[in-house]
Amino acid sequence: MTPLEAPGAGVPYKILGASDVIHINELRQRYPNGRSAVLPALWVLQRKEGILTAEGMREVARALELPPGPVEAVASFYSMFFFKPHGRYVVEMCTSMSCLLMGAGPVLRRFEEQLAVRTGATTEDNLATLLEVECLGACGGAPAAQVNHRFFENLAPEKVEPMIAEMRAGTIEAAAPPAALATGGKEALPTMPTGAKAADRETIVDLANPGANRLEVAIAGSAGSVVDLVKGHGYLLNPSDHPAERGYVEPSKEPQP
Ligand code: FES
Repeated sequence: MTPLEAPGAGVPYKILGASDVIHINELRQRYPNGRSAVLPALWVLQRKEGILTAEGMREVARALELPPGPVEAVASFYSMFFFKPHGRYVVEMCTSMSCLLMGAGPVLRRFEEQLAVRTGATTEDNLATLLEVECLGACGGAPAAQVNHRFFENLAPEKVEPMIAEMRAGTIEAAAPPAALATGGKEALPTMPTGAKAADRETIVDLANPGANRLEVAIAGSAGSVVDLVKGHGYLLNPSDHPAERGYVEPSKEPQP
């Protein structure tokens, strides 16, 4: 049985296509536990939509035959997943120790000046989002950055302006992926979907307010009352049922003779 045939399969996927669900199912088969496929499955969603929305993650969970909670928990842990729209290029400048010692600070400031944004922001024309990140594992080429997940090493302030000009022209190139590295080749860097379209029609995940994106939880059902640990403190014990309200007294801790 595949997720397309599983119970609930009558409800069509709205975000993932049939080929995406089949791909996620193939990823799932590579691991003894479906939870191990959460990360690659989230990449399928992010490559398609640009960002992870609440509805998108619920569909990923359904395709993996998991509850949505673990999928959201994994997604919120990793900084490479986006929850709100970003630029067509995402510039991630490393400012960890090796890069900092090799001049990451002036490079980051030059990106801020040339893009006219503060770190963490997106340019008004959605060209680029500038982020500060921890070690990218490219310390030997410090100071290093990633643009759309591809490495740019041995950066210097004077290299920033030409990079941005190439982004505007859509001609920026990055080192070819490992399979072609032996040739020292470069290839055009594809732009990323910004997530703006997904944000217009789906629910943006609010990481600062966990639970804000959850579906409404029924207070009672055939299995009895439900406790929503995020929003539902009101569903916990009725005050009059609390032991303290019934005159309950802790047993004495005095040592017994
Ligand atoms: S410190 Fe920047 S890549 Fe490691």
